[in-house]
Amino acid sequence: MTKTYHETTVVEYDRTGDVDVLERRVRPLRPPGPGQVVVEVISTGISHIDGFIRTGRETAWADEAFPRGSGSDFAGIVVVGDPEGLFRRGTEVIGHVRSGAHARHVVVSTAAIVVKPPHVSWEVAGGLYLAGATALDMLDEVRVGAGDTIVISAAAGAVGSIEAQVAKHRGAGVIGTCGDRNFDYLRQLGIKPVRYGDGIEERIRELAPGGVSAMIDNFGQDGKDLADRLGVPPARYRSSEDRRDTELRLLQDDPESVAHGTAQLQQLAELAEARAFTLLISGFYPLDEIAYAYDDLQNLHSRGKIVLGTHPVTTYRTLKARDVHEAQA
Ligand SMILES: NC(=O)c1ccc[n+]([C@@H]2O[C@H](COP(=O)([O-])OP(=O)(O)OC[C@H]3O[C@@H](n4cnc5c(N)ncnc54)[C@H](OP(=O)(O)O)[C@@H]3O)[C@@H](O)[C@H]2O)c1
Repeated sequence: MTKTYHETTVVEYDRTGDVDVLERRVRPLRPPGPGQVVVEVISTGISHIDGFIRTGRETAWADEAFPRGSGSDFAGIVVVGDPEGLFRRGTEVIGHVRSGAHARHVVVSTAAIVVKPPHVSWEVAGGLYLAGATALDMLDEVRVGAGDTIVISAAAGAVGSIEAQVAKHRGAGVIGTCGDRNFDYLRQLGIKPVRYGDGIEERIRELAPGGVSAMIDNFGQDGKDLADRLGVPPARYRSSEDRRDTELRLLQDDPESVAHGTAQLQQLAELAEARAFTLLISGFYPLDEIAYAYDDLQNLHSRGKIVLGTHPVTTYRTLKARDVHEAQA
């Protein structure tokens, strides 16, 4: 007999502000409509754009009604399926919503989910959508491929680490900007690390004697001027503002945008399953510790992705990979 799901726990907020506006609440779960399923969320990512929307720094959502849900990426198990379709009860899925993924259950259209490949971990699956689809969109826009040398900023971060590895997978040589502590990490991925900040142009020229053909600035520091000086054609440069626009497009919930986001998610799932990239999870926090997870993210030095879990094996706070590294230094 199919269990019915009447309520769930969600994270939401009634006004813009810092993490303290986030409230954990029990809410009725609406029954799934045609073409929808109920997913029990196992893991769900956090991102800077979630934070910018919550604080009001991102004004594109100013007219959005309250209370607002938080979060757009999730992975979980279908608990009420669509018996006629691909997503039966028990199917492991990865998905996306405009907002409201920071919850124990989501009611979601089957147009916004893909089957989770067996070797993609729950932690990775839950953080895949927004960072990964942004990375693929940016790479598609600059048409990166074999023979290119691309510079990617914040290459150890969530979006940058996926971009850098997929660019390499597509045949490009990749130079990634990072702090000193991430040199070994990027080298392990086959990416040439370069320290950001003063003197970066000369350092990149040394690493790329044949020139640079494309550049993506995720961070918003070493941007258009640097790309111009390196001779990158304007059509093959993407700024941090372009990236913001891409992320906001990926959060639209009209059918065309959802279909595009899901197609990118399907491609990401396949690339992750084939080990074309690995997404390092540097913080895995219980959903109830969402404020600490955002604190970690806002330090701007996380490596890979920060993800929330709804079924933590411990209620103790996660020890961050960064803390281990720095404690040893
Ligand atoms: N324009 C927008 O609206 C917009 C939208 C989303 C994100 N962003 C920004 O883009 C950045 C990366 O995004 P993400 O989602 O990948 O976040 P993330 O995972 O938090 O990125 C953190 C990475 O940023 C790197 N970083 C720190 N200071 C840097 C600097 N001065 N120059 C270059 N890289 C630096 C860090 O490298 P090290 O630890 O090696 O220093 C770290 O690996 C974030 O800072 C975020 O705020 C902007």
